[in-house]
Amino acid sequence: SKAAAGGGNPRDFIAKMKEAKKRIVIFYGSQTGTAEEYAIRLAKEAKSKFGLASLVCDPEEYDFDNLDQVPEDCCVFFVMATYGEGEPTDNAVELCQKLSDESCEFSNGEHKLPGLKYVVFGLGNKTYEHYNLISRNVDRDLQKMGAIRIGERGEGDDDKSMEEDYLEWKDGMWEAFAKTMNVEEGQGGDSPDFAVTEVDEHPPEKVYLGELSARALTRSRGIHDAKNPYAAPIVAARELFELGAERNCVHVELNIEGSGITYQHGDHVGVWPSNAEVEVDRLLCALGLYDKKDTVINIESLDPALAKVPFPVPTTYITVLRHYIDISAVAGRQILGVLSKFAPNPEAETILKTLNTNKEEYSTVVHNGCLKLGEVLQLAAGNDIHARPTTENTTAWSIPFDIIVSSTPRLQPRYYSISSSPKLYPNAIHVTAVVLKYESIPSDKIKTRWIYGVGSNMLLNLKVAASGENAPLISNEAEDLPAKVSAPQYSIEGPRGAYKQDTIYKVPIHVRRSTFRLPTNPKSPVIMIGPGTGVAPFRGFVQERVAMARRTIEKNGPEGLADWGSIRLYFGSRTSSTDFLYKDEWSDYAKELHGKFTMRCAFSREPPYKPDGGKIYVQDLIWEDQEQIADAILNGKGYVYVCGDAKSMSKAVEEALCKILGEAKGGSAEVEGAAELKLLKERSRLLLDVWS
Ligand code: 2AM
Repeated sequence: SKAAAGGGNPRDFIAKMKEAKKRIVIFYGSQTGTAEEYAIRLAKEAKSKFGLASLVCDPEEYDFDNLDQVPEDCCVFFVMATYGEGEPTDNAVELCQKLSDESCEFSNGEHKLPGLKYVVFGLGNKTYEHYNLISRNVDRDLQKMGAIRIGERGEGDDDKSMEEDYLEWKDGMWEAFAKTMNVEEGQGGDSPDFAVTEVDEHPPEKVYLGELSARALTRSRGIHDAKNPYAAPIVAARELFELGAERNCVHVELNIEGSGITYQHGDHVGVWPSNAEVEVDRLLCALGLYDKKDTVINIESLDPALAKVPFPVPTTYITVLRHYIDISAVAGRQILGVLSKFAPNPEAETILKTLNTNKEEYSTVVHNGCLKLGEVLQLAAGNDIHARPTTENTTAWSIPFDIIVSSTPRLQPRYYSISSSPKLYPNAIHVTAVVLKYESIPSDKIKTRWIYGVGSNMLLNLKVAASGENAPLISNEAEDLPAKVSAPQYSIEGPRGAYKQDTIYKVPIHVRRSTFRLPTNPKSPVIMIGPGTGVAPFRGFVQERVAMARRTIEKNGPEGLADWGSIRLYFGSRTSSTDFLYKDEWSDYAKELHGKFTMRCAFSREPPYKPDGGKIYVQDLIWEDQEQIADAILNGKGYVYVCGDAKSMSKAVEEALCKILGEAKGGSAEVEGAAELKLLKERSRLLLDVWS
């Protein structure tokens, strides 16, 4: 495995560093790409601040036996996300193991890394129990082995403040870095990541207009996965809420026949959205690109090690904004500073600079106001952000397009828990999505506005197109908002009309496997808790058991189900008449399961209320059923599943479970109950599919 001249071991990162004269290596533990983005940002900052080039590495692609041989003037960064229930991301499993396993030796024959200089930044989510566990473990293990941390360990909270946490941490870290590495600021300078060129002549069939892979462009067959999503025809679509619910919830059935895609109950489907047309237009106008939106552009990376072009090229301006980058997210504080240099007038420059440097102002105006990049530019230039954007009412800035590309993350798929079972629907994936729409917090600069979720509103557009049913106009009581609103419009026909065939619409998807699964043995009791759209996977679970029951009954008659465990479902919604999901289906499932299935519903906004007038939620029903639940878990070796809101609901449900188990064990919720719950989790008999 020694590095040979000209060749070398591709898994040897030190050889690579030496070869390219790099003093920094940055490893990222990333599942969805966020940690990788931060790794790249750190690399860029090292370059612009100190003129130091970095090697940015996926740990999966390297060996760590020689981690003890990192040269003295070099340093190792670990940008580590914590995933799920305190686990490392898939690509960091081995690295974490190497660091923590004391029997693992480095090339010095010991489990020691004396004097190794390192930096840690962790990405976690405070709504989960093991906040930033992985970065903390990495830090602890490195310290134990005699490595020396530069600066503080950084921790970002994905739930709330990732960007702010990063910005707050990095300056102190770079200061410490400069001292330890003996380098000075000001040796770098901003250099662009990409070169964008407008192309006069290009074979039109080779221009990407929103295709997500080369295969999609050439329409050649191949495996469908996250890198090559499948355009799945929508075979049925309907509204699940009744009028008066004041919200929409769409049910969409996607045909996967002949695609090679398979799924299991409990899996997730990734839906690749585009941005709403109004936002595409807004940014085209603000960037002064509206009149040449269809110009073909090529984008090249000026430093492929630091920045890969994040989407396929050649393409067009409008395609990038519509399909490839996330222009619908709240604009970040840092980019506003960069863009202030391109302001059309001194006032606009001052406004952006203030938003960049004054955290409070940024928080009230941009963060609370949920301002997207295009909207911040309009606001700074004094344009009316409430009007439909046009080239007349929107000031054009001359921002180089490469800056937009390098500072805006790629548009990511939105994941939904699949709400069907392949045993009942082998050729279809069902999606149940509540359409996200909420009010922004007003400030003296911006009135309250409706903010629309990207993925669910695109699904609503598709539902309207596919079913011919209009989305009901939603009335609302908030005074400052328009009284009746409908969803923003999307371009849903896709590149070259690829997502529309006569009256059939298609949506690009892929399936992500999960571990959220029923026990294989139907004798084990099952408890499912899923209020709101949290019920989605449980519709699939119940269908799964129905399919199994049909087979059993065919062979042995209904007695075949005699030794099955109980299947309990706890559902909650506002009322029994407006937002009771799949209301008409449950009794049919119950019939087929011959008494094994019970469902209880907590309708929070209709009687009965608690004696003190409070709302009744799923956790209250669980508490009422404490005896059956304790029996199912403790005596029946039952399985518990929770799906839905991570913040308040799943916490409250866990607390109720602790109380029940504590009491059943003759102890307290805090001690015996918590211990029992922990055990359940460790044995994978308490499984969560929660989101925030
Ligand atoms: P609410 O909106 O009336 O407060 C689905 O969204 C259901 O979950 C609704 O009935 C909603 O009630 C309820 N819900 C809201 N917060 C909850 C919490 N902390 N725990 C359990 N259910 C909750």
